[in-house]
Amino acid sequence: MPKSYEVAVLVGSLRKKSLNRMLAHALSALAPPALSLRIAEIGDLPFYNDDLERDAPHAWQALRERIAAADAMLFITPEYNRSVPAVLKNAVDVLSRPFGSGALKGKPAAIATSSPGAMGGFGASHHLRQSLVCLGMNVMASPEVYLGNAGALFDEAGALTNPSTEDFLRRFVSAFSDWIETFSAR
Ligand code: FNR
Repeated sequence: MPKSYEVAVLVGSLRKKSLNRMLAHALSALAPPALSLRIAEIGDLPFYNDDLERDAPHAWQALRERIAAADAMLFITPEYNRSVPAVLKNAVDVLSRPFGSGALKGKPAAIATSSPGAMGGFGASHHLRQSLVCLGMNVMASPEVYLGNAGALFDEAGALTNPSTEDFLRRFVSAFSDWIETFSAR
């Protein structure tokens, strides 16, 4: 029987009509059958504070367990002020600790960013990549997704409006599936 992989998706926007959340749903629908993409919510995580580790907040523990059990992670985020939105950086910080036993080390990962602007969140993507690589994640190098002018690429219901974007995203998520497979075979 072919293997299947659980991919935990972190979305760096809490907005109800978030374009990045639409992108997460689109990628989930385009993923090959071997991948199951499910969003792990991060909006209720208390800000990281080392003093809390002794009796870590339930929301931290639940996310850490969820990510430890996942085969891979997909980060989908807007860019805020040329960097990673605080809500997503906080989740990465929470997952990076306790020091030496964080849930991220060695896990295959990929990043997709989107923005209504022309640069598609390039800056956020590379700031995030810097953190993930430093934490020992195996972050896919290519294909890269910086989805610019994203406001024009989804309809009101969140469906993709452009077949060539759909093709591009299908190729991305299929390459990610191969990437995950490579690490699971080790
Ligand atoms: C933005 N936005 C933005 N866009 C961009 O391309 N580069 C940037 O540096 C920023 N900076 C920024 C800061 C803050 C505080 C906000 C609220 C917004 C615009 C941003 O891309 C846009 O609001 C997206 O629609 C946000 O993504 P979601 O919520 O649609 O997923």
